[in-house]
Amino acid sequence: MKHKIVEVKNVLSCLELMENLQGRSSITPGIGLVHGPSGFGKTTTMCWLINQLGARNASYVRCYATDTPSSFIARIMEELGADMLYPLRKSVDFIVNRMNERQLPLFIDEADHIVGQSRIMETIRDLYDATELPVILVGMEEIARRISHRKQLFNRVSEWVEFQPADLEDVHEFASQLLDDRVQVAEDLLEHIRKRSGGEVRRILTALEKIERSALANDLDFVDLDAWGEQPLFLEFRR
Ligand SMILES: Nc1ncnc2c1ncn2[C@@H]1O[C@H](COP(=O)(O)OP(=O)(O)O)[C@@H](O)[C@H]1O
Ligand SMILES: [Mg+2]
Repeated sequence: MKHKIVEVKNVLSCLELMENLQGRSSITPGIGLVHGPSGFGKTTTMCWLINQLGARNASYVRCYATDTPSSFIARIMEELGADMLYPLRKSVDFIVNRMNERQLPLFIDEADHIVGQSRIMETIRDLYDATELPVILVGMEEIARRISHRKQLFNRVSEWVEFQPADLEDVHEFASQLLDDRVQVAEDLLEHIRKRSGGEVRRILTALEKIERSALANDLDFVDLDAWGEQPLFLEFRR
């Protein structure tokens, strides 16, 4: 399999989100929300977006279940290449100044872990209010619902993307851009992958890689549903 990011619909929707946040007028707030199930490609898409912006022109942090206001701020400081300043307020001021100086948008991945923590969420709002630079919160299904209870932050969300399951066209793109050039997968097998994967990118790529490996091992340049049969595509649990 080739290693590259395929510009499927969810990726392009996020590019549009970012362009809208950056090009917005001064009356439109600038918090973005990107959400969807695990394995759908959110983190990969954010990395791609940040590369588009130029890696030094954005900051990215991911959150952890154990995060506290202090560990969260420390991670942003580390991303900015700075040591912590105490009291915490000084670190927050430093981040605000740095974001303003360099016009850095802030990407916050795995935000589900912190959406229940008022002090962290208020800090994010402080960072946004003091810079008015785009802040993009990325998380799973729960985040959109839970953030709606935080009116202060919710009112500042002007752009959002809900990651959609890959459709057949997307699966087709993954296959044509990532498979070894010697291997071709038939439309009916791509549709089978789409259905079985529930449109989850991680599973789609696992399946394509399995088929590719098997085709190369058996010297096949074309695999269709009939040839693949009921062989597993990825680990599935029986309900
Ligand atoms: N557009 C894409 N092009 C290529 N690979 C992708 C793409 N989106 C996701 N992937 C792959 O799918 C897997 C899951 O993606 P990830 O970004 O971790 O999902 P999420 O953050 O939504 O849980 C990763 O291995 C990643 O490399
Ligand atoms: Mg992720």
